[in-house]
Amino acid sequence: MKVSQRETNIGEIFSKFIEFYIEPLVIFETERYEILYINEKAKDFLGNAASFSDIFRQEEYFNFVKLIRNCYSIEEKRVITFDKKNGKKGILLFNLYPIACGDHRVVIFTFKDITKKIKEKEEKRKKNAQLIFQDKLKSIDLVTSSISHEINNICNFMVNNLKITFQAWNDVFQLIREYEEENGEFIIGGIQSSEIASIIPKLMVSLIDGINRISDTIDDFKKYIREGLKSGFSLIDVNETVRRVVNILNHHIFLYTENFNVRLQESLPKIRGNIQKLEQVIINLLTNALQSLSERCKGIYISTGIEDERVYIEIKDEGVGIPSNIMPYIFEPFFSTKYATGGSGLGLYLSKAIIEEFGGEIIIDSGENKGTIIKVYLPYESENGKF
Ligand SMILES: Nc1ncnc2c1ncn2[C@@H]1O[C@H](COP(=O)(O)OP(=O)(O)OP(=O)(O)O)[C@@H](O)[C@H]1O
Ligand SMILES: [Mg+2]
Repeated sequence: MKVSQRETNIGEIFSKFIEFYIEPLVIFETERYEILYINEKAKDFLGNAASFSDIFRQEEYFNFVKLIRNCYSIEEKRVITFDKKNGKKGILLFNLYPIACGDHRVVIFTFKDITKKIKEKEEKRKKNAQLIFQDKLKSIDLVTSSISHEINNICNFMVNNLKITFQAWNDVFQLIREYEEENGEFIIGGIQSSEIASIIPKLMVSLIDGINRISDTIDDFKKYIREGLKSGFSLIDVNETVRRVVNILNHHIFLYTENFNVRLQESLPKIRGNIQKLEQVIINLLTNALQSLSERCKGIYISTGIEDERVYIEIKDEGVGIPSNIMPYIFEPFFSTKYATGGSGLGLYLSKAIIEEFGGEIIIDSGENKGTIIKVYLPYESENGKF
């Protein structure tokens, strides 16, 4: 195809093109650091002042300046967060094209607000994740039901056998006493015959306790799965939920600390929410607290209570603490200082979203080497919710 140069003014065509370009477009001079051109779409976005420093916080503005200053090759899909007029956070997507003009370098960039798109994507992802999760729960529920049936049968069988053994023990004990009276003290299984009367019943009671704990753990797990399958809101006993989570994480807790303390205030009013989601929040916060501990002798203290007409769950750790420079970002999605060890940076983000859905809030008090106190406040049910 032959391109006709006849009377065609490329500059004019180009200026028309950028003027009506579908997205906000800006031409920046990088030496003097000034805007050379800004199209209508960009003016609409930035307002009369046409200044980027108005829409970014200081740190974000610094990132924006760096992005343009260091742009020597085409940069696509660069993302910077910004403050929306309604006070909420937004996300801008930049495409940058540097162009050498004699001694100068200009950068042409387009940008667009992708906040809504990202939110929709996130919602879709959450919905899909929820569907997959529910599906998994259904199959786990099937498996746990049959396993727990088997285990409970074995537990019942063991308890019954122990009861019979215990009855037999009373007779055996009588024989031991008679033998002892005739022949003096002797040793049975490394234990003095005079002490055996108090030791054997204790051993049997601890065996029954152990069996009951196996049964309870299985029941807790079954309840956890069942609650997960109901996605609605119900009245929740916060203490019972904390206890169940601690039971489920028992082994995990033991790996991180030998100083684990739980102090729950009795007769707390019930709160309204989804049990499985509340359990998820406690698991996330407790896991963070455990991961922050540098040694097993450092402690964790969980407590519940009422403050300012709200129920609270407090998780206090003697861990490394949160340095003040990262504090503003810890609730942001994908912010993590633990990528190397498998962190995804979603724990606090999701926990905050869940607690806000319940009408509550999360407050953090922490500092480097100071440990961390996280308090979750939840509104309680004032009429039917009270015990
Ligand atoms: N109790 C805590 N002590 C010290 N730092 C914490 C504590 N809780 C959170 N943090 C900091 O906040 C960051 C974000 O926490 P978050 O739970 O959202 O993500 P993560 O723990 O890194 O990953 P994930 O929970 O998704 O596995 C952590 O990487 C950590 O730096
Ligand atoms: Mg976490």
